[in-house]
Amino acid sequence: MTTIFKFKNMKPCSRILSPSKNAGVPLPKSSNFSSNPNHFSASRFRTILGRTQKRNSALSSTWGQSRIFSSSCCFNPSKRARTHLAVAPHLRNFSAPVEKCDRIYLKGGINVKPPPGDEGVEEGGENVRKNECSRLAGKEETDVEKEAWRLLRNAIVTYCGSPVGTVAANDPNDKTPLNYDQVFIRDFVPSAFAFLLKGEGEIVKNFLLHTLQLQSWEKTVDCYSPGQGLMPASFKVRSVAVDDDKFEEVLDPDFGESAIGRVAPVDSGLWWIILLRAYGKLTGDYSLQERVDVQTGIKLVINLCLSDGFDMFPSLLVTDGSCMIDRRMGIHGHPLEIQSLFYSALRCSREMLEVEEGSKNLVKAINNRLSALSFHIREYYWVDLKKINEIYRYKTEEYSTEAINKFNIYPDQIPHWLMHWIPETGGYLIGNLQPAHMDFRFFTLGNLWSIISSLGTPKQNEAVLNLIEAKWDDLIGQMPLKVCYPAVESEEWRIITGSDPKNTPWSYHNGGSWPTLLWQFTLACMKMRRTDLAKKALGIVEKRLPLDGWPEYYDTKNGKFIGKQARLYQTWSIAGYLTSKMLMEKPDAAALLLWEEDYDILENCVCAVSNSNRKNCSRMLAKSQILV
Ligand code: GLC
Repeated sequence: MTTIFKFKNMKPCSRILSPSKNAGVPLPKSSNFSSNPNHFSASRFRTILGRTQKRNSALSSTWGQSRIFSSSCCFNPSKRARTHLAVAPHLRNFSAPVEKCDRIYLKGGINVKPPPGDEGVEEGGENVRKNECSRLAGKEETDVEKEAWRLLRNAIVTYCGSPVGTVAANDPNDKTPLNYDQVFIRDFVPSAFAFLLKGEGEIVKNFLLHTLQLQSWEKTVDCYSPGQGLMPASFKVRSVAVDDDKFEEVLDPDFGESAIGRVAPVDSGLWWIILLRAYGKLTGDYSLQERVDVQTGIKLVINLCLSDGFDMFPSLLVTDGSCMIDRRMGIHGHPLEIQSLFYSALRCSREMLEVEEGSKNLVKAINNRLSALSFHIREYYWVDLKKINEIYRYKTEEYSTEAINKFNIYPDQIPHWLMHWIPETGGYLIGNLQPAHMDFRFFTLGNLWSIISSLGTPKQNEAVLNLIEAKWDDLIGQMPLKVCYPAVESEEWRIITGSDPKNTPWSYHNGGSWPTLLWQFTLACMKMRRTDLAKKALGIVEKRLPLDGWPEYYDTKNGKFIGKQARLYQTWSIAGYLTSKMLMEKPDAAALLLWEEDYDILENCVCAVSNSNRKNCSRMLAKSQILV
C-alpha cells in the first residue's frame, strides 16, 4: 500500500485533484449549515483556505519526499488577530509579519506558563477555581506525585518554543519507539486534564489550536482521501532543512495513513471537542471556543459524524480499531466506546456552538441525534440478569415493526462465561450491536464514559459501578483497569483478531489492563458518589506503577505481569494517575467535567417512540419511560 499526498506531483492520481469532492463541507441530512449558496459561511471560507493551504504548504524534503507539511510554525495562538494565519499561511502577507522559527525541537523541562488571562472568565467557574486554589494551598505533593510531574514535564513536546503536547511514551532506553514519540490526540487528554487541574492552560490551548490546523490537511491512502473534518491520530514535530544550515520546524500529522492497519482515528475529533469544552470550564477562558476558526472546527467534526450513509441506527458506524483499541479486535460496526464519545461530543458541541442563522439547523440535527442515540443505547445495549434472561427466551425471525427481538438475536449467542459471570445486582452496556449480533464483552472505557456523559440512565450508571465492585478481581485485580473482559481465546482469537500476536488472550487490547483508564474511573465514581471504589483502585496504582516504570499495560487475567510489549514511562499512565489524584482533591473542578441527565434530550425521543400526542409528551413521561 502506498501513501501519497494530494499536492505532490501525482500524475497517477490526478483525478483526485478535482475540486468537486472537496468543494464544500459535507452536510448532514437535516442541516442547512452553509447550504445557502449565497451565504459565504465560515466553513466554506475555511474549506477553501484549507484547500489552498494543502497545496501551498507542501515541503519537499530530502529525507521524506513530500511527507512533511509546514503548519505555520510561528503563529501565536493567543492572539485572536492572528487566527487566520493558522488557517491560511498564504494570507500571512496580508496580515501580520511572520515570526521565523529555526531549529527548535525541545523536549522536557519546559516551564509551562500560567493559564491565560481573565478574558471571558465565567463567574461560577471562577469561584470554583478560587476555592480549589485556597483548599490546596500548602498541600505537599507526595514523592510519587513529584516523580510523576517530573516525568510528565519531560514528555512535553514544543513547537516553535511553545508547549503543544506530550509524547506517548518517553523511555530513554527504548531504541525503537515506532510512533510512541508522537503526540497522540487521545493520549494527550489525561495530560491536558492534569495541566488544567494544576492551573496550566497554555499547553492545552496550544494543543487545541495546532491540532485544529491539522484538521485541514488532506492526506490520501492509495488515491483516496478521508472526509474533511477528520482529526489526526497523532502528530510529530519535525525539523526540516530549508537551507544549508537552516532548519524549520513542521508538524507532521498521521491520519491513519501510516498507522499499522491504516485504522481511522474516529475518536480524535470527538476527544478534541470534549477537551475544548473542558478547557473552557477549567480555565474560564471561553474566548477560545468562541473563535470563528474553532467554531468551524467543531462544525467540521460534527458534520462528518452526522453525514448521511446507509446506517439504520443513530449510533455511529465505524471500521475496526477506530478508537483506543486501534487494532483489529472485532469492534467494527457500532462499538460502545465510539458511541459514548460521540454522545459526549454532541453534548459539548450543543453547549459550545453559537446559535445563529448559519448553525441553527446543525444544532437541530445535534438535538435529534442526541435523543435518538440516548434512547438506542439505553434500550438496546443494556444487559443485566433480567435482560439476559429475556434474551435467553427470545423468539426469533419476527417480521414486523412490533418485533420484540428487533435485531433477531439468537439466544444461543449468549456466551457461557456471561451466564456464570453476570451478578445478581449490577449490569452494563454491551460492546456492540448489529443485526443478529450482540457483542457481550464488557468494554471499560465505553461504560465509564457513558456514566460520565449521562448516556446511561442514573440507575444504569449506578449498576455499572455495582458490577465493577462485584467483579473487582476480574476488572481491577492487581492493576486497574481491564480494557475489555473477557479475552477472546483459541479459535475465536484466530478469527476475531486475525491471529494477532500482540493481542493474544489477556494481553494488550485483548483483556489487558490499562492504568490510564484510572482517571475516567475516578471521574465516574465521583459522579456516582462511589469514591470508595476510586480510592481503592488509586491505592493499587500508586503502589505499583512507579515501581514498574509506569508501563502502558499489564497482562494476564488479573494484571499480574507488565505487558509483553508494553512501553515504559507511558505518558498517559503517568498523567492518568496525576489526573485521578487531582480530581479527588478537587471535587468542585471534577463536577465541571460531568454531565447530568438532560430531560429535553429524553423528551424528544419518548414522544416519537410512544406515538403519544404532543400534550402527553412531558418531562414526566420522559422520566417514567426512560429512567429504568
Ligand atoms: C497504542 C494504543 C492507542 C494509543 C497508542 C499510543 O496504539 O492502542 O490507544 O493511543 O498506543 O499510546
